[in-house]
Amino acid sequence: MSTFTFLLEGLRNLRTTGTLTRSSTALCLAALDRIDFSTARTIVELGAGDGVITEHILKRLHPDGKVIAFEVSPELCDDMRAIGDPRLVVAQDSAENIREWLDRIGADKADHIVSAIPFAALPKDLGRAIVKAAKDNLRSGGCYNQVHYSLKTKGYYEEAFGKVETTRVWKNLPPAWVLYCNK
Ligand SMILES: C[S@@+](CC[C@H](N)C(=O)[O-])C[C@H]1O[C@@H](n2cnc3c(N)ncnc32)[C@H](O)[C@@H]1O
Repeated sequence: MSTFTFLLEGLRNLRTTGTLTRSSTALCLAALDRIDFSTARTIVELGAGDGVITEHILKRLHPDGKVIAFEVSPELCDDMRAIGDPRLVVAQDSAENIREWLDRIGADKADHIVSAIPFAALPKDLGRAIVKAAKDNLRSGGCYNQVHYSLKTKGYYEEAFGKVETTRVWKNLPPAWVLYCNK
């Protein structure tokens, strides 16, 4: 998907998309920091959009690995399906249903979870339910990395994971944050 078509999707569904621009390369790389790709086999991505972070995951993912990419927009899911990688499972579903999709691929837990869901734009109960489902279905020692444009919902991750580290990514429009949590 081009930057222009992502912008159109953002304008159509700003409430759920949360942005008019897709993540820059610098932000995608920061979102994947702390993931040990040498051991990871099951990665779950929440709010995958057109797959801009997903493609970076696939570049580094083990040949036997799987990435389950959650996205609620049917158009953006079509873009991800067009990536055509057999390791990619496009979950056209809301992210609180992680358990069901892990079961579909026969995985007990996710090794790591990356999210760009705009929680500040979603109802609090839904946001908290998604973060709880993420934590419950993450293996011990796994990381949960969250991309955001503000730290408004940092409390969600502190409630679920305790300690949260943050980094600022200036090379993105607008400048963004990545929040790192460990289970
Ligand atoms: C800020 S965009 C990020 C897109 C892409 N990952 C990127 O980094 O450019 C957030 C995405 O989360 C999706 N989203 C919003 N609510 C969701 C939910 N409950 N479950 C899954 N995806 C959701 C939106 O449709 C949107 O595509």
